[in-house]
Amino acid sequence: MRQAVTRLRGAFAIAVICADYPQELIVARQQAPLAIGYGQGEFFCASDTPALVPYTRAVLTLENGELARLTPQGVSVYNFAGDRLKKQPRTLNWNPVMVEKQGFRHFMLKEIYEQPGVVRTCLEAYLNPDWSLGSNKPLATINPVQLGITDGLLDGVEQIQILACGTSWHAGLVGKYLLEQLAGIPTMVQYASEFRYAATPLMPNTLTIGVTQSGETADTLAALEMEKQRRVGKPAPFQARLLGITNRPESSISLLVDQLIDTHAGIEIGVAATKTFVSQLIAFYLLALDLAYRRQTLPVEGIEQVLTGLRQLPALIELILESQERYIEELTHEFAETQDFIFLGRGINFPIALEGALKLKEISYIHAEGYPAGEMKHGPIALLDAKVPVVAIATPGIVYEKVLSNAQEAKARDARLIGVTPLNAPEANEIFDNILPVPAVDEILSPILTVIPLQLLAYHIAARRGLDVDQTPQSRQERDR
Ligand code: F6R
Repeated sequence: MRQAVTRLRGAFAIAVICADYPQELIVARQQAPLAIGYGQGEFFCASDTPALVPYTRAVLTLENGELARLTPQGVSVYNFAGDRLKKQPRTLNWNPVMVEKQGFRHFMLKEIYEQPGVVRTCLEAYLNPDWSLGSNKPLATINPVQLGITDGLLDGVEQIQILACGTSWHAGLVGKYLLEQLAGIPTMVQYASEFRYAATPLMPNTLTIGVTQSGETADTLAALEMEKQRRVGKPAPFQARLLGITNRPESSISLLVDQLIDTHAGIEIGVAATKTFVSQLIAFYLLALDLAYRRQTLPVEGIEQVLTGLRQLPALIELILESQERYIEELTHEFAETQDFIFLGRGINFPIALEGALKLKEISYIHAEGYPAGEMKHGPIALLDAKVPVVAIATPGIVYEKVLSNAQEAKARDARLIGVTPLNAPEANEIFDNILPVPAVDEILSPILTVIPLQLLAYHIAARRGLDVDQTPQSRQERDR
């Protein structure tokens, strides 16, 4: 095996059994995830940790260039050169219930319903209990969040670059909005798969944030590794500062970055990211508040307003789930023959339009595009007719009227208009054929609410089409390669 793996090219995670040694399994990892589970007189290997949870919680994730030998007596780990390595499994604080559907038809629906709890847990973990308007210390001296990020990573940061793929990239776009608008730091969001091959020229004092649900996406890991390597030996301002945002603190990203924000969303089993996306957004709110406090870009009252709004979100997500699921399920009857959908949003909700489209295409195989509402008139409007439903995200705030007027342009093309918008807004009632209502909140917090009906819409359209929502052909493992 050792001789063979050094001759292999590309990414692999292999398990090999030899007819002469049926009690032994040899496994090897290079750029693809491989986890080993420790049992009692038995050992397991899998391409991802959730598969091991029903059997054991003692798990060792192999690193690139490592081999392991599994026998009933134990596990020994080597590098490809054959040197024995000392490695200990870590104990996951998961339980088997986390990998069961608990009465839900699909994991995706279960995970959509877990979102209020995920937001609550993440806020509880990181909001500073000492911050309260009744506190006897001046609030300007208390950081509202406790992310545990060292000063060395954040002090003097002049720009931020976010590296991610897919849904995590969309979270990065919302993150950019928050970091720029709340903390005043210029931020770029790059597809990791592009950045790897055409990196931005080196800039000093740059914080690089890798965002990944699985913590194993090959492009994201490779982009972070490249960023780290190209800064080795450079003068101090050019030294790498790497931060990870993930719900999988045990995964490979933890080995690459200086520090992690664990979003506390737990494992996500459904192939479409839902609760982990919302938890990544919460991490960005908290990071933006942390930086806004450190750099004094927001007054105490401004910080308090965002905090109050954040604390209300779990109950508001619950409200959307309770009041809308049935309606959305019924509405999907009408899209039995639909082949194309357009999702429109602006400002902080433009990434949510992209996310709504991605969820729909990923699990229902319907063609869907997310577009900045203001750009429709520059060409794509030509695609619209009565057969193409348009979902517009219109929440009160700086771009509200603009989105409504963009929606009206679509209506002039006979498109059926669905609004993700607060109920009882007379101007919206007139424009939209259907409304997926969301409570009115501060615009800056609205993405956490507007994404929920879009997840439900994608889920129910796919479920109605009889598709296996949790396992699209393009599975998580394929993306990790
Ligand atoms: C969409 C989805 C994918 C992932 C992407 C990145 O629902 O799940 O687009 O977001 O493959 O995966 P992670 O976040 O694991 O790096």
